[in-house]
Amino acid sequence: MTMRTVYVNGDYLPENEAKVSIFDRGFLMADGVYEVTSVLGAKLIDFDGHFARLQRSLDELEMPHPAALDSLLEVHRELVRLNEIEDGMIYLQITRGAPDDRDFAFPDPGTTAPTVVLFTQNKPGMADSPAAKTGIKVISIADQRWGRRDIKTVQLLYPSMGKMMAKAAGADDAWMVEDGVVTEGTSNNAYIVKGGTIITRHLGNEILHGITRAAVLRFAREAQMKVEERAFSIAEAQGADEAFITSASTFVMPVVEIDGTKIGSGVPGTVAARLRDIYLDESRKAAQ
Ligand code: PDD
Repeated sequence: MTMRTVYVNGDYLPENEAKVSIFDRGFLMADGVYEVTSVLGAKLIDFDGHFARLQRSLDELEMPHPAALDSLLEVHRELVRLNEIEDGMIYLQITRGAPDDRDFAFPDPGTTAPTVVLFTQNKPGMADSPAAKTGIKVISIADQRWGRRDIKTVQLLYPSMGKMMAKAAGADDAWMVEDGVVTEGTSNNAYIVKGGTIITRHLGNEILHGITRAAVLRFAREAQMKVEERAFSIAEAQGADEAFITSASTFVMPVVEIDGTKIGSGVPGTVAARLRDIYLDESRKAAQ
């Protein structure tokens, strides 16, 4: 890969010169939040949504807002420009900063500034992913994450383990189950379609409030499709007509198999395909 230009605390640097302290609380305690914003046609998809969720994540953790917050749109755009990203992603992470020693107590925000890091991931042709035509296979696993999944923290160990469990089982991803019902995918929101109705778990502390989810549900309702926000079980999903996931990096991605059971006829469904088209069209139009 060519050397990227990344952003660290106000500076644009070659990726191999960018440094963060070993005392950074993101590194020591996963005391940090992040966002992933997709880029299509060199423009940012739903930046305002990601920015609003970022502010909420910071507020929920009583993390000070970094000085750079107001200029984040500019920083995103500058990284797209410097790295010549046509299609891809921007990863942003803000941590509670690097005090001069390890301590469970939060550092004084007057003396410890948040750490702000952004970098690009180049994914040419990201919207034409072959998986969107074949669909993906998921397995179900227990949801063993903490209780504030509505905050987009960098504690991604369990989701990483979930992806490895999926891989070991010959699947592409995992849906997490708690109290007999699906919460969400390891890095995406989960949906089923039955009799034309789109069903996805209601919002709460148990799932991340996906920015793609909000947009897709809005477009579905505008297109007069029926939407139900409620929990569903793996058994209900296996008996559904269709299943799919959404996230900033996969957009709308059909799911064709759950725990080895084919969904519908085992090929991507028409509702998911239609939602993917609408989502990509509308998001490109509104991209900044
Ligand atoms: N993941 N649920 C979880 C647990 C997620 O990690 C994500 C996003 C989503 C979808 O949110 P959005 O539509 O705002 O991307 C739902 C990102 C893409 C990631 O970790 O790479």
